[in-house]
Amino acid sequence: MQQKVKKAVFPVAGQGTRFLPATKAVPKEILTLVDRPLIQYAIDEARAAGIEEFIFVTSRGKGALEDYFDHAPELEAALKAKGKTALLDALRETYMDSGAIACVRQHQALGLGHAVWCARHLIGDEPFAVLLPDDVIAADKPCLQQMVEAYAETGGNMVAAMEVPADKVSSYGVLDVPTGISPVLPVRAMVEKPAPGTEPSNLAVIGRYILSPQVLRHLDGQEKGAGGEIQLTDAIAREIARANNVHGFRFEGVRYDCGSKAGFLQATLAFGLARDDLRGELEEFLYDMLAMRQAAQ
Ligand code: UTP
Repeated sequence: MQQKVKKAVFPVAGQGTRFLPATKAVPKEILTLVDRPLIQYAIDEARAAGIEEFIFVTSRGKGALEDYFDHAPELEAALKAKGKTALLDALRETYMDSGAIACVRQHQALGLGHAVWCARHLIGDEPFAVLLPDDVIAADKPCLQQMVEAYAETGGNMVAAMEVPADKVSSYGVLDVPTGISPVLPVRAMVEKPAPGTEPSNLAVIGRYILSPQVLRHLDGQEKGAGGEIQLTDAIAREIARANNVHGFRFEGVRYDCGSKAGFLQATLAFGLARDDLRGELEEFLYDMLAMRQAAQ
């Protein structure tokens, strides 16, 4: 029986430069898909997977993120007085239990591995999840829940993975795994942003992990990797070399890279089209827009 995964780390200390100038004043994780900020999707996914403690790794200028999860008594009273129950429910979804959220600072954006390492004292000696809020995953069963269920069988460490096109694979952490169709694959090696042509497969790691505390020990040395950053991938690769207990998990669902502008726009459309209250108007707009573009060609 594996130890239950109760803690999740949300690294949100990046600079979000691809969304400048918006991210000069607004944290990337507060950018909104339809009417919910990216961070809300990640928190909901973690809750569905049974996470009880939520650790944010933040940085300067991310205060709006902490405020977002606060209770809002004045707003609540105003909505109640006006009988706006649906909005009241939406507001209450953002509330977190007292003490459920903790924040630690990453003083300099030295890389994802460093960000996770900043949470080491709060993580302690137990397995933990890591969720990158700019990877948003639409799935019938939330991705982290799928992973927690698979992890209950495997233990060790688990990284979410998906096939990516050959011309994109060198932007990811990539898995060396045996070929096969099983959702759970033993990982032989892992390499961050391999040079084109050297990638061990087209199975890329995306922003969901279940890790053992041993991975944090591999980060103690603060060694820099690809791009001069302290990489989480490198720490996981060292854990493979040490204990050979890392699994790739092919999740069911569609992942949107909301850290990129194109991915964010695609997610906005997909989530809008999935909503009963928006689908009709949005479809009509898209048909008209495409027709106009075709007519202009
Ligand atoms: P990204 O690679 O997307 O970097 O980080 P970024 O700074 O957020 O965005 P760009 O590339 O400048 O546009 C992936 C995740 O890791 C976190 C980010 O907040 C994001 O959730 N991260 C990255 C940190 O918390 N600290 C770091 O030092 C680097």
